[in-house]
Amino acid sequence: MSQLLLSNKMLKYSLIVAVCESFGIGIKGDLPWHIKSELKYFSQTTKRVTDPQKRNVAIMGRKTYFGIPASKRPLPDRLNIVLSRTLTPADLPSDVLLCPDLETAMQKIENEEIGNQIENVWIVGGSGVYAEAMKSPRCHRLYLTQIKGNFECDTFFPEIPPSFCEVPLDAETPRGIQEENGIKYEYKILEKQ
Ligand SMILES: NC(=O)c1ccc[n+]([C@@H]2O[C@H](COP(=O)([O-])OP(=O)(O)OC[C@H]3O[C@@H](n4cnc5c(N)ncnc54)[C@H](OP(=O)(O)O)[C@@H]3O)[C@@H](O)[C@H]2O)c1
Repeated sequence: MSQLLLSNKMLKYSLIVAVCESFGIGIKGDLPWHIKSELKYFSQTTKRVTDPQKRNVAIMGRKTYFGIPASKRPLPDRLNIVLSRTLTPADLPSDVLLCPDLETAMQKIENEEIGNQIENVWIVGGSGVYAEAMKSPRCHRLYLTQIKGNFECDTFFPEIPPSFCEVPLDAETPRGIQEENGIKYEYKILEKQ
């Protein structure tokens, strides 16, 4: 994977999201679709490290964290960071980091001891976190799964700025139209120029 992490000592991150044609991403705190192979791609992509001594970070908003089934959170093999101004550390497992905002989270990773044990940083939602993340110079790439068709959604991905351009897929990313249970989808990677 060609994810650029350190550029002029500023730690960068990438976003990963699955969107339907209306740019919907969620409904009632859950995903609007059930596509096991897409969840597997999310898991493999956000876990992948070249240095086996390191792990990746997954940064997410409060609702995204609690939208993950209780048995599957925190996301395993990744440092989970939850953004919230209403939770207290006691509301989360002790191995989950709570931060009041995205920049505080990034500075914690950059400045503290944990930074040495981290390879990639992933922004995994939701809506407001994605919007803030795309505007930042820290943003490297957007790993976008385009779900064909429309699903009922109450949460949407923000507009992608024109500075994001499609780049060739990583070697690990499946190419072409995928299909599971009649739902067609395709992986894309966009890079912020
Ligand atoms: N399709 C996908 O790939 C995908 C990915 C992720 C999520 N989702 C779906 O999206 C929905 C959840 O997303 P959402 O947009 O509703 O909520 P969210 O962003 O996950 O959570 C919102 C909460 O997170 C905190 N927060 C968000 N942005 C913050 C920021 N920049 N700084 C500090 N705190 C921040 C706030 O918590 P406090 O109110 O506690 O301060 C806010 O109320 C679910 O349905 C989920 O399944 C889909």
